[in-house]
Amino acid sequence: GKYRVVSTKPMPGTRWINLLIEQDCRVEICTQKKTILSVEDIIALIGDKCDGVIGQLTEDWGETLFSALSRAGGKAFSNMAVGYNNVDVNAANKYGVAVGNTPGVLTETTAELAASLSLSAARRIVEADEFMRAGLYDGWLPNLFVGNLLKGQTVGVIGAGRIGSAYARMMVEGFKMNLIYYDLYQATRLEKFVTAYGQFLKANGEQPVTWKRASSMEEVLREADVISLHPILDKTTYHLVNKDSLAIMKKEAVLVNCSRGPVIDEVALVEHLKQNPMFRVGLDVFEDEPYMKPGLADLKNAVVVPHIASASKWTREGMATLAALNVLGKIKGYPVWSNPNQVEPFLNENAPPPA
Ligand code: GLV
Ligand code: GLV
Repeated sequence: GKYRVVSTKPMPGTRWINLLIEQDCRVEICTQKKTILSVEDIIALIGDKCDGVIGQLTEDWGETLFSALSRAGGKAFSNMAVGYNNVDVNAANKYGVAVGNTPGVLTETTAELAASLSLSAARRIVEADEFMRAGLYDGWLPNLFVGNLLKGQTVGVIGAGRIGSAYARMMVEGFKMNLIYYDLYQATRLEKFVTAYGQFLKANGEQPVTWKRASSMEEVLREADVISLHPILDKTTYHLVNKDSLAIMKKEAVLVNCSRGPVIDEVALVEHLKQNPMFRVGLDVFEDEPYMKPGLADLKNAVVVPHIASASKWTREGMATLAALNVLGKIKGYPVWSNPNQVEPFLNENAPPPA
């Protein structure tokens, strides 16, 4: 192969590798045992000649790495993730490296995990599972693991982009919940869906579902019974959920986070969970991954999973393929992906801000 492409981690499937090999690329996959590579590890991987890199969200892609990649002749970097808060896009621009991410292919998989966490928290699935395995079940009781009924409650979505909208649709259609959402952009298709579904329910003699676009995030936090966070992480969303915002939420609300850990002040959350045993959370992401803040792991009203929202086989293979196509597209000057409505392959070249 004429071009050298490096992947900082083994990735699922073989399609991504074959695509690169068929197009004149040599693929080098880092097989280091340690989970998270340091900047120095990656500089060593890049070496003297490297045309493109596929990297991971655990890596710090800033000035140092983009200058190293540029010195090695590299022109393309793709994060194997939709989130790119680990990437300094300005630094990439400065060194002439195009940056890609992998939206679209993970929308439904991620929304399904947010729905799973919502149900697990509302119906106390993990607590009840632990109880069974501990041999504590000694007969049916009226008060055993009573949780929340979602039907007729309000689901709140902060960030109604691709993932937030898919999650909202699942909760509205699956559980007949009303919707309140906050986003800078109007989620027109989502609004139309809820309106049409409400009309359908009404025609069948059922209570119709409703939607409302909130004028602030606080309005969502105050009014919703189940709240799922789907913003990007930046200065405006850092600690979006903090001591003050927790205080305005319903005492029996369910809060779900499959976006990025620092969107929640986790120390404040632990305190709030301790004070409010009926308040429940489902968390896929944490402020200091891979760590949890002290106390979180001991709380029965928290369901915690290790950043697996996009972890379905189809999606992870799709992310790997899309990341490879991003890098390949830049190296070879091809159009990058066939569905421009689904993805924005190079954030710093032709993309609108992700909704
Ligand atoms: C995962 O967290 C992603 O951003 O794709
Ligand atoms: C519960 O198992 C019931 O039958 O109500």
